[in-house]
Amino acid sequence: MRDPQRVEEILQSMVKAGSNTVQVISDFDMTLTRFAYKGKRCPTCHNILDNSNLISNECREELKVLLDTYYPIEIDSARSIAEKLPLMVEWWTKAHKILVQQKIRKDLLATAVRDSDAMLRATSSSSTTCMSTASPSIFSAGIGDILEEVIRQAGVFHSNVKVFSNYMDFDESGLLKAFKGELIHIYNKREGALLNTGHFQELRTRPNVLLLGDSLGDLTMADGVEERKQSYLDLYDIVLVQDETLEVPNAIMLYLT
Ligand code: C5P
Ligand code: MG
Repeated sequence: MRDPQRVEEILQSMVKAGSNTVQVISDFDMTLTRFAYKGKRCPTCHNILDNSNLISNECREELKVLLDTYYPIEIDSARSIAEKLPLMVEWWTKAHKILVQQKIRKDLLATAVRDSDAMLRATSSSSTTCMSTASPSIFSAGIGDILEEVIRQAGVFHSNVKVFSNYMDFDESGLLKAFKGELIHIYNKREGALLNTGHFQELRTRPNVLLLGDSLGDLTMADGVEERKQSYLDLYDIVLVQDETLEVPNAIMLYLT
C-alpha cells in the first residue's frame, strides 16, 4: 500500500456505509484466475483455446506469433495507454478473426476448459465470498463462453454473477461464426460499463466498489512486476505481489459484513 492510512479510511467509511452499499467489480484473466501454479504459467481464456485441439496447428502457430508480438506491448510500462490501445485492438481483432476461421464447436468448449490448466485463485473456507456476495460483475477482455465455463466448473457460477465479455456467436449447427457485439479489449472496459448502464443502475444502491484487477487498464500484470510496481501502487489502493489467492479481497468483504 502506498498510503495505508487512506486505505484504512476507505475501509472504515465502507464499514460505516454498510456491506449492502458495496459491490465487487473484477477482471477475470490473471485476477480471478491464477497467474501461475507451481511455477508454471496458467492460461488465459484465449490460451485455453490456443492450447486445445479445437484449433489447427497452423492456427496455433498464428496465434502464438500474435501473442509473442502483442503481449510484450501489453505489459510494456514504457509505452502509454494511448500508444498501446490501437495495437491491442489490432491483436484482439486478428485473434478473433483467426478463431472464427476455425469453426470452433460449442459442444467441445467445456472439454477444452476441463483439459486446461486454468485455475481460479486459491480457495479456503472464505474462498467464494467475493463471488457469492455483493453481486459481482466480471469485466473481461477474454472470451465470455470460456470464462463462464471456468467459473462453472469451479462451482462458483452463482446466479448473481454478471459477466461482460466477448461472447461467441454460433451458427445453428453449433459452429463459431463470429463474436457478438462490440469488442471488449483491456482498455475499453469503462465503455463496456457505460453500455451496460441498465445493470449499473441496478447497482446504484451499491456505490462502494471493491475493484479487482491485474492491469492498469482494469482501472480506467504480472510479468515484470517489480518495474511496474510503482505505477500499480500509485493507482491501486492495495497491490498484492505473488499472491495466488483471493484472501485479501475476501477478508475485506468479510470485514465489511
Ligand atoms: O479477463 P481479462 O480482461 O484479463 O483478459 C484479457 C487478457 O487476455 C489480456 O491480459 C491478454 O494478455 C490476454 N489475451 C490473450 N490472447 C489474445 C488476447 C488477449 O491471451 N488473443
Ligand atoms: Mg486480466
